[in-house]
Amino acid sequence: MEIKAIRGFNDILPSEIRKWQFVERIAREVFEGFGFSEIRIPVLERTELFARGIGESTDIVEKEMYTFLDRSGNSVTLRPEATASIARAYLEHQLYSFDPVAKLYFIGPMFRYERPQKGRYRQFYQVDAEVFGVGNPMVDAEVILMLMHFLKKVGLERLELHLNSLGCRACRPRYREDLRNFLKRKTFQLCRDCQRRLQMNPLRIFDCKVQTCQEAIVEAPRVIDFLCEDCQIHFDKVKEYLQMVGLDYILNPRMVRGLDYYTRTAFEVVSYHLGAQNAVTGGGRYDNLFKEIGGPDIPGIGFAVGMERLISLLPNERHTISRPHLFIAALSGEPQKEAYRLVNQFHLEGIWAELDYEGKSLKSQMRRADKLKARFTLILGDEEMRKGKAILRDMDTHTQEEVFISDLLKIFKEKVSPQKSTPS
Ligand code: HAM
Repeated sequence: MEIKAIRGFNDILPSEIRKWQFVERIAREVFEGFGFSEIRIPVLERTELFARGIGESTDIVEKEMYTFLDRSGNSVTLRPEATASIARAYLEHQLYSFDPVAKLYFIGPMFRYERPQKGRYRQFYQVDAEVFGVGNPMVDAEVILMLMHFLKKVGLERLELHLNSLGCRACRPRYREDLRNFLKRKTFQLCRDCQRRLQMNPLRIFDCKVQTCQEAIVEAPRVIDFLCEDCQIHFDKVKEYLQMVGLDYILNPRMVRGLDYYTRTAFEVVSYHLGAQNAVTGGGRYDNLFKEIGGPDIPGIGFAVGMERLISLLPNERHTISRPHLFIAALSGEPQKEAYRLVNQFHLEGIWAELDYEGKSLKSQMRRADKLKARFTLILGDEEMRKGKAILRDMDTHTQEEVFISDLLKIFKEKVSPQKSTPS
């Protein structure tokens, strides 16, 4: 029986990998330019970390985690997100003792048992960035600026930045109560899940996709009308700094985010080219997360970009499949041995050369060079070889010249600059 990948788990094939490498390279360049350092965290964590960090009554923790008992009977979970893990690492390794402010980024796969569909997978990749140790709203705007700069540099356009404030421990309970009272009057309109959410965590109802639930919240009270004075000042400052750094945003009082750790600033970047799963990025401030996972009172803010969604928005033509610099088509016997020697000499110099291992006819080797879109082809025949020469064919201009084999490396070193993966 043919074994296939598990539903919701994707292969990323060589034909797509250029885009992934490009996005990862730009992320590193941009983030490091903003003073962020890379951190790598484990795939598996104690379940408790996410249950406490993300919140017991969130969809992620309630029904989407890959949780199982390991062979010693410990409950472990494949990370559904990175923020709680990075916070744990920061505490565990006392990164604050070096500098209380930590700017960290991470790139890697996450796991959520969601219903797979376009833009929603069970294993998906995130580019994640976090700042720990600063409560000042300047950092909120700075993190958002870095995010928007990154998205612009990878070539995304026409994105909307949605902004909201979710209040804090002081003001949100009053809002939650008001929302609950409002929705109680509409219980009959709510789906079963939302009737349960109404008791546990009514803010989650905003994220429900069921039509009647969406209708029930149309006139629901807005969290920004309940902000305490400190949260209001913080929010006003965030908006002021966003304006200072030249970023437009849309105030979206219905955007509540799907994780419970958020306080104050929350944001999403949305593209309408994505359809139902339209959020490329989500993020916000989480000033209680560290306490929830057993640490001291440390503020934090960050975001995560969904790689699959981001990559689906990139234009194809800019990220073509790479092509060999050179294909060496050789007659069998001595020419083939020479081709083998040359190919490996070229590889040691970082020049991608290909040859035929099977002793095929010159014609079929040329066909393969064409198919691989080799930039140049070197034709090695008995007669030319005796003179120490070969024919070098430019596959783009269809011109050819006789060259000395001993000059080849020099010729190619000039043609292939170290920054470029394909010769000009
Ligand atoms: P999130 O909104 O759950 O936030 O996920 C962030 C992004 O990951 C989403 O906007 C989306 O692009 C992508 N994403 C989420 N689930 C899936 C899925 N099943 N398939 C494909 N892509 C998906 C977080 O994860 C927070 N940790 C973000 C954060 C960092 N907040 C503060 N710091």
